[in-house]
Amino acid sequence: MTVLVSNMTAATREIQALDSAHFMHPFTDHGDLATRGSRVITKSEDIYIWDSEGKKLLDAMSGLWCVNVGYGRKELADAAYQQMMKLPFYNSFFQTTNVPAVQLAAKLAELAPDAGERSFQHVFYSSSGSESNDSNVRMVRRYWDLLDQPQRKVIISRLNAYHGSTMAGASLGGMSGMHAQGDLPIPNITHIEQPYFFENALPGESSDDFGLRAAGWLETKILEIGANKVAAFIAEPVQGAGGVIIPPATYWPEIQRIVDKYGILLISDEVICAFGRLGHWFAYEKFGYKPDLVTFAKAVTSGYIPLGGVLVGNRVATVLIEKGGEFNHGYTYSGHPVACAVALANLEIMEREQLPQRVHDDIGPYLAQKFEEISEHPLVGVAETCGFMAGLVLVKNKATRQRFGENLSVGMICRGHCFKNGLIMRAVGDRMIIAPPLTMTHAQIDEMVALIAQCLDLTYEEVKTKGWLA
Ligand SMILES: Cc1ncc(COP(=O)(O)O)c(C=O)c1O
Repeated sequence: MTVLVSNMTAATREIQALDSAHFMHPFTDHGDLATRGSRVITKSEDIYIWDSEGKKLLDAMSGLWCVNVGYGRKELADAAYQQMMKLPFYNSFFQTTNVPAVQLAAKLAELAPDAGERSFQHVFYSSSGSESNDSNVRMVRRYWDLLDQPQRKVIISRLNAYHGSTMAGASLGGMSGMHAQGDLPIPNITHIEQPYFFENALPGESSDDFGLRAAGWLETKILEIGANKVAAFIAEPVQGAGGVIIPPATYWPEIQRIVDKYGILLISDEVICAFGRLGHWFAYEKFGYKPDLVTFAKAVTSGYIPLGGVLVGNRVATVLIEKGGEFNHGYTYSGHPVACAVALANLEIMEREQLPQRVHDDIGPYLAQKFEEISEHPLVGVAETCGFMAGLVLVKNKATRQRFGENLSVGMICRGHCFKNGLIMRAVGDRMIIAPPLTMTHAQIDEMVALIAQCLDLTYEEVKTKGWLA
């Protein structure tokens, strides 16, 4: 296939041509990619990445919600090197184990805050968030089978949730585009509406009232299905890929009341929200609920090497271990020694630099203050932060908060300006989102916010010229 990008260097064009010819990318329209050519990212340092043309970009998305300790951490490379020289791989299937996997499981159990009878002493490993959520489905079904309630099969999730891209992950997720391909969701997975105040609140409804009403959709769904058929509810503490949708303060306590009332398991998918992102090691602590299973991945290694897993709460672990016999599930790379060694080194950095605390006390509040200023921009309907992630909605009319509707590509226009001006910000429809490295200084936050403001100005001028404003 020909790559039609003419203003690039020969070296970039060559790698783009090979990319287009051979590399099938995730979530990509390859026809489009072939004409435009990929952006080739070649190096990184601190909070910045560079492309093959030498362009420097401030990475306000931490790669893909991963690089919480920032780029260029030699300690992590050293940890991988040393473990590779000692024991690059061994499986953990046949009554064998390895030291980093054991140490990491113990460390995660130590870091996970007390959750009463659901407290966490056990970890099941995978290599990604998607696999971990598949493991959750397997564990939840096994749990209810072992308790002689095999009819409890249904897992309730939410529309616009993201739980990964495997068959189970994509089914648990609530992305209509993903369900439209490949006959998803698989049976016994159903969805309720998301707690998105800006989109779903009634006129004049308070955030607290909306939070209670949104949680109530879970109870309605449980009753519709029949409580004795519901196995679990899965949710992200804050919906990340859906656009940084932050639930009202009343939402999670009410969800807890409902899952407790009907005895159903609660899965907290913290693939994005754990490891300091919301100012805590795990996000269930921030919102004060007690999950049975916690999905993790990404920032457990700050993305330096793939690793995922599930914190298995005592309620589930006890049944699986004491009643279950052999659990016929696992992955070649469950507890991969190199990935676990890197994770241990990464958590050591986070502890030493007190990154969760830093988000909680310092840079989280600082970002919130900056986003309050951004919310004044004429193109911004609402700008919100939670810990060290943030989202803003681009609107046609600031006074009425009218949205762009059919012109949802406004987000892509904004993203284009960001890239041209040296900033990686993600567009989810009309929402622009960030989740920067947790190591950012105040000066770097100022630099990022100035770039966001500049790109909002440029987007405003462009949509005005197009006649899209109202
Ligand atoms: C909440 C959540 N769960 C699961 C996943 C899937 O993780 P992975 O891409 O590592 O499979 C993601 C990915 O962004 C996520 O945000």
